Amino acid sequence: MQGQREHWASHFGFIMAAAGSAIGLGSLWRFPYTAGDNGGGAFVLLYIAFTFLLAIPIFIGELIIGRKTQRSPIFAYQSLSNQSSNWRMLGYLNMLTSFIILSFYCVVSGWCLNYALMSINQFTIGKTPDEIRAVFDIVYTSSDLNIFWLFLFIALNVGVVYSGVRKGIERWSRILTPALLVILLAMFIYGITLPGFGKAVEFIFYPNFSKLTPTVILNALGMAFFTLSVGLGIIVTYGSYLKSSENLPKTAVIVAIMTLLVSLMAAMMIFPIVFSFNFPPEGGPGLVFKTMPVLFAKLPGTLVISTVFFILFVFTALTSSISLLEVLVANLMELFSWKRAKAVLFSALGIFLFGIPSALSGSGALFPNWEKIYGQNFFDTMNYITASWMMPITGLLTTIFIGYVMKKEITQSEFVQGTNLGALFKAWFFMIRYILPIAVTLIILEQAGVLNLSKLF
Ligand code: PHE
Repeated sequence: MQGQREHWASHFGFIMAAAGSAIGLGSLWRFPYTAGDNGGGAFVLLYIAFTFLLAIPIFIGELIIGRKTQRSPIFAYQSLSNQSSNWRMLGYLNMLTSFIILSFYCVVSGWCLNYALMSINQFTIGKTPDEIRAVFDIVYTSSDLNIFWLFLFIALNVGVVYSGVRKGIERWSRILTPALLVILLAMFIYGITLPGFGKAVEFIFYPNFSKLTPTVILNALGMAFFTLSVGLGIIVTYGSYLKSSENLPKTAVIVAIMTLLVSLMAAMMIFPIVFSFNFPPEGGPGLVFKTMPVLFAKLPGTLVISTVFFILFVFTALTSSISLLEVLVANLMELFSWKRAKAVLFSALGIFLFGIPSALSGSGALFPNWEKIYGQNFFDTMNYITASWMMPITGLLTTIFIGYVMKKEITQSEFVQGTNLGALFKAWFFMIRYILPIAVTLIILEQAGVLNLSKLF
């Protein structure tokens, strides 16, 4: 089934697709509220450090695996491990994790679609800030609305991925990713003019290390992996559509810096509003949906600004969700020799069905006792399990694979090919081989309660 694999049409298109995957609801929606919940500064610093030290090296490693093998993750791991079928399991784990993430990611994306429509209808007119915030609770607890928008967002994904790598993923990423960056910059500049900006900067950048608990550390690691889309085989898959001339380390650094900037800009767009209006900084998943509309209501041209903003959220979510969907599709196509259309429809149906319990989490219409038993609702459970457990574990396995299973000569020749940063190979390999596995293992063990590093703080 190798044969004529599709390739990206251009370097720019690939970068936009990779950045489109990385920049998404993780940066715009999840990062601000997680930073808020975890006390701000110290969390943000850790997130930046983890991105550079841990996530970028894995990102490069995944690109190497994909470009070298030109195959989807299951077969890529197999072919680089002397045909060991044990390592195929990592590919299956990638698929499972991507599947679970998609199921709740599409629910949040559905809220974005919903807010875009609400903005056109000018839902803030005549409401006080508190009333505007309360609208989110209505959305969140409406079963039918959540299912409707979930379905629609998955349909959008099908529309893009169905058309293939160049005509679907690349074509849309080339338009949507740059558009997002421009609008975000404009909104960020507006945030600077608000009275709460100084307080927001302090909240985001002032590190209060007394807030650094093991959970905060693990959350920061999960966030770094999640926002860079590593540990899921996505970058392996996107890398497999690359030709050999691409400069991998440089690509990884460009994408990471873009993602970091977007995350920080998103936080600096939201927290000035939070502080200007005296809302509590820790706001949970509703933060963006509750806070931004309050600002929009005050601006001239509310209708246009608010609609554009939420449509952009939809775009950014879409360029990320298609990358998750592509992992499922690419693997299925190769596993069963399916046509793209069949793989796309099969995956989409599965995601929709499994997404329903997440879509109904707010209303409690399904599994009403879930929260009492597991401590958080179905949606939050999926969010937590994937980001805090599955991604670190698959990330760990990926580094072990790159550091110990793949032949070093292959890794080295792929690393240096197409780059003038070849001198960094040794440092990179050292990180992959020694630092990363140890750091990620310690963090996982700590979270599992096997270790107790927090006593050292
Ligand atoms: N990186 C994307 C984001 O920040 C989400 C994502 C996670 C996409 C994992 C693919 C894989 O929103």
